[in-house]
Amino acid sequence: MAHAAPIDIMVPESGDNCGTIPVFARWFGSWKISVQRRALSTTELAKAYDREAAGWDRTIKRLGFADAYVTMLEQMLPDDFVEDRKVPLRVLDAGMGTGGLSVALSRTKAGPFAFHGIDISPGMLIEAERNLEDCGISADLRLGDVQSLPYDDGAFDLVMAAHVLEHLVDPHHAIEEMVRVLKPGGVLLGCLTRRSSLGMYIHLKWRTHRVNAREAEGWFAQHGLERTRCLAFEGHTRCRNLSLACIGRKPLA
Ligand SMILES: C[S@@+](CC[C@H](N)C(=O)[O-])C[C@H]1O[C@@H](n2cnc3c(N)ncnc32)[C@H](O)[C@@H]1O
Repeated sequence: MAHAAPIDIMVPESGDNCGTIPVFARWFGSWKISVQRRALSTTELAKAYDREAAGWDRTIKRLGFADAYVTMLEQMLPDDFVEDRKVPLRVLDAGMGTGGLSVALSRTKAGPFAFHGIDISPGMLIEAERNLEDCGISADLRLGDVQSLPYDDGAFDLVMAAHVLEHLVDPHHAIEEMVRVLKPGGVLLGCLTRRSSLGMYIHLKWRTHRVNAREAEGWFAQHGLERTRCLAFEGHTRCRNLSLACIGRKPLA
């Protein structure tokens, strides 16, 4: 099992998650010099993504994620977990944006699926609803925060979270929530901004965390997820430079 990598997270002092995201930290002898940046609050993120919503599909297509998500899901989700089920696989797309990952799943595997999605940006949800409808997918979409999921314990077989955890001051709180709503044996799949040149651009623009594969597996393993492993978006140059995908299973007992 991978070990959790230490990450510097400053706990919010007050108000609407006004904690900080680490930018740089290094020891010089007995001195630790660190630079931190105030994270975008949930309200600021919702407004920022509302502004992005109309063009978001174009953005993820331009970067190559529309196809890269398909390749990644084919490689990461075992067929026997997803297909030929007597009851639909209950899927939560957390921080779903315009629904690109749900659409990719429906393109990749036969299902059947019961899709659910949640996001803090009303604009993103309007676009997601339209996109899913265009693909003949009916879904239960909710406006809400991944740090406080409005679902029962064990509600889902699969929780997917693409490029949302890194926005949070304390990603662990959201991972804990995602694990809570997973059934025993269920799968958590995350896509995260990498420590890379494009990842640095995203980090500076959006004040996100960045992780390498060891850190991502550590985040998941810290919450009891088993068989954690990461995958690079091979064959999709920009996506590979920007992100990695990480998967883990909730133990059966
Ligand atoms: C980088 S976009 C990714 C969207 C989508 N998953 C994709 O792959 O295209 C991040 C999304 O997470 C949402 N988000 C950010 N913080 C959130 C939170 N605390 N709870 C729910 N959604 C959040 C944003 O509104 C935005 O839609």
